[in-house]
Amino acid sequence: MPNIVVIGTQWGDEGKGRIVDILSERVDIVARYQGGNNAGHTIIVDGKTIVLHHIPSGILRKGKVSVIGNGVVIDPKILLEEIEGLQKSGYEVSSDNFKISDRTHVIMPYHKLMDKASESRMGDKKIGTTGRGIGPVYEDKVARRGIKVSDLLYPEHFEQRLKSIIAQKNIYIEKVLEAQPLDFEEVFAEYIAYGQQLKSYITDTSLMLYENVKNNKTVLFEGAQGVMLDVDFGTYPYVTSSNAGAGGVCAGTGISPKTIDHIVGISKAYTTRVGEGPFPTEITDGFGEVLRKAGNEYGATTGRPRRCGWFDAVAVSYSIRVNGINSLMLTKLDVLSDLETIRVCTGYKYKDQVITDFPSNLSILTQCEPIYEEVAGWKSDLSGVSDPKDLPQNLKAYLGKLEDLLETEISLVSVGPSREEFIPLNNGLISI
Ligand code: IMP
Repeated sequence: MPNIVVIGTQWGDEGKGRIVDILSERVDIVARYQGGNNAGHTIIVDGKTIVLHHIPSGILRKGKVSVIGNGVVIDPKILLEEIEGLQKSGYEVSSDNFKISDRTHVIMPYHKLMDKASESRMGDKKIGTTGRGIGPVYEDKVARRGIKVSDLLYPEHFEQRLKSIIAQKNIYIEKVLEAQPLDFEEVFAEYIAYGQQLKSYITDTSLMLYENVKNNKTVLFEGAQGVMLDVDFGTYPYVTSSNAGAGGVCAGTGISPKTIDHIVGISKAYTTRVGEGPFPTEITDGFGEVLRKAGNEYGATTGRPRRCGWFDAVAVSYSIRVNGINSLMLTKLDVLSDLETIRVCTGYKYKDQVITDFPSNLSILTQCEPIYEEVAGWKSDLSGVSDPKDLPQNLKAYLGKLEDLLETEISLVSVGPSREEFIPLNNGLISI
């Protein structure tokens, strides 16, 4: 398989972890390029549920190398717990199969404080963040007052930087948040210790990826969240603070755009969103709850109930265009199996116009009404189906409808939560 990018085309939680787990069998390296432990990638292996927050899903496959790229932000305490959890479950996590970019930024205690404080100050205008300090750590990165993971390995340098940063942060913590200031010595000692525990994994991963690609090794670049949460192309300001789309790959791993051969988009057969912000196809009556229960739609990181809605072809078409997606993989079809009819949003009604390009302005988007087409459900159990020929006729018609609307081939569908419950279509995995 060539070098591919796997991205979410909706508001995250499309099942990327699961798809990366399937595809990672066919590459040598899996590299994450953005986001942090706001992500929660769920994979079910041999009946056991594994949730990964930082580490690429490739870690579950023997002989594959997993990389945390420079565009990711890490919370060292949580990352160390994740490593330990995997090791206790029998998975190898060693300096041979796990690498962290030395340029990766570190979430500090003040980032988490500020994330939560900013959300509570915003009241009903809040973003609905995961509270993990993601926004504040990316803010500091861009403002040039961040701490990189390699800083933790040089005590004198780290001491100098942290002293001046904490002095500034404490003014804000005391005067604005009216909270207890942070103790420099305590934070310094804690983070120096994390540096030592992570030391063996830290390396220049841009160089490592370059050398591997030069030696014909293949890489899968794993996105977190989804395009509609991308800081530039999502429903700003109700977005995360990084480029979740394919545009984030080069900046977030230090590879050339020429390295990328194929871009795969992942969509759920319906739509979900966690947190605040516009969601044109949201189902606000009791049926939303039915879908939530059927799809077990609760956040893998925060446990929050996900908002549920119909498939939005306007949003997914936009994701395809902005990212140059070559093929789509559609997850959770089994969740729709009991429905008599299924709705697909084919356009938005805005005042007296019909819009099919996703609006960039929030004031337009919030006034858009979805226009639906209805298709017949397939009303049959998909468990055990492994051959595309055995898929119900109405399901094939639903897929055909989506392919026509999106002008993109669907190369795989998932029909159940376990690792094996997927069906390649159109020679999907072979043609990539
Ligand atoms: P933050 O990334 O914690 O700053 O949260 C910003 C927005 O992105 C909120 O609406 C979150 O619910 C959403 N978000 C962040 N990570 C994920 C994810 O992995 N899946 C779905 N939504 C997410």
